[in-house]
Amino acid sequence: MTSIKRIGVLTSGGDAPGMNAAIRAVVRAGIYYGLSVTGIRRGYSGLIKADFWDMNSRDVGNIIQRGGTILRTARSEEFRTKEGRQKAYENLLNAGIDALVVIGGDGTFKGAKAFTEEHNFPIIGLPGTIDNDLYGTDMTIGYDTAINTVVEAIDKIRDTASSHDRLFFVEVMGRDAGFIALRSAIGCGAEDVLVPEVVTDMDEVCENLANSVQKTKSSGVVIVSEGDDAGGAMQIAEIVKKRMPEFDIRVSILGHLQRGGAPSAFDRYLASKLGVAAVEALLDDQRSVMVGLVNNETVLIPFNQAIKHHKDINRKMLEMLYILNT
Ligand code: F6P
Repeated sequence: MTSIKRIGVLTSGGDAPGMNAAIRAVVRAGIYYGLSVTGIRRGYSGLIKADFWDMNSRDVGNIIQRGGTILRTARSEEFRTKEGRQKAYENLLNAGIDALVVIGGDGTFKGAKAFTEEHNFPIIGLPGTIDNDLYGTDMTIGYDTAINTVVEAIDKIRDTASSHDRLFFVEVMGRDAGFIALRSAIGCGAEDVLVPEVVTDMDEVCENLANSVQKTKSSGVVIVSEGDDAGGAMQIAEIVKKRMPEFDIRVSILGHLQRGGAPSAFDRYLASKLGVAAVEALLDDQRSVMVGLVNNETVLIPFNQAIKHHKDINRKMLEMLYILNT
C-alpha cells in the first residue's frame, strides 16, 4: 500500500500544446484513485513561493482543447540552488504534498533529479516540449501540434513563394534539436533542411539549390532549425544571396506561434495516456522516472537516462527528403 495521499502537479520550462490535457489527466486520475491534488503555479518558482492551488475535477473541465498551461510555467533560477530546493521541500512538507508530477523538458527533469536526490522525494516526469528532444519517448507532448502548425504556415509561404518565383528560408524552433525542422520539411515538401545534428556545409547547400530549385523549379523552401551551426535563417540567407544573386530570397521566422494553439488530437491522446500512467506509476511506488511512449506503449525511463542520453534524429528521414526532391 502506498503512503501517498496528496500529489502536486506543475508545468515547467517552455509551454507546449497538450500541457493542459496532461494536467487534466493527472488531476482526474489522482482523484479517481482517491488522492488529493495540488496544482503548483509557475513551475519550480511556484514551489519555492508556495503558490499552490487545491484542484478538483471541475477545475480541469474544458481545458483539454486549450493551448498553453492553466498552471502557467517558468524557468526558475532559484531552483538551481540548494537553498531554493530546500525552500521548495519545506513548502511541500507544510502543504502535505507527498509526491510530484512534473511536466516539461530536459531542464525540468534535471531539476527534478537534483531535488529527488537531495530530499528522497517521489517525482514522476511527463515529457512536455515542442522540441521532441527527450530520450526515452518517441514523441513528446506538443511536438505533433507544433509540426502541424509549421506545415500549415509553410503551405501558406509556399503559395506566395511560387507566385513570385522566390526562395524562402524559414526558421523553425529547436534550439538543440532538428526534429521539428526535419519532420515538417518532409510534411511540406521542402527543398532542403538544416538541422543542428548535421554540420552545415554551405557549398553543399548551394549545390543542392542549384540542382533542385534552379534546374527544375522556379521557387523553393529551405527549413532552418534555429540551432543550426551555420547560423539562423537570416545569416544563411545572406550567404546564399551573395553566392547566388540570381535568387529572389526572403526569410520568415515562425517563432513562438509554434508553441501556441489548440493541441492536435494526437497530443490530447498522448497527454491523457501519459498523465494517467504517471499517477499509476506513483501509486506503484515508482520514483525518478519519466513516462514515455515507445512503439505506442507507455514506458518508464529513469531521469538519469532521459537527461544523459541524446536522442538523435533519424538520418534515414534526411535521405528520404532528398529522394522525394528528385
Ligand atoms: O524548448 C522549447 C523551445 O521552444 C525551443 O525550441 C526554443 O529555443 C525555446 O523554447 C525558446 O524559449 P523561450 O523563448 O521561452 O525562452
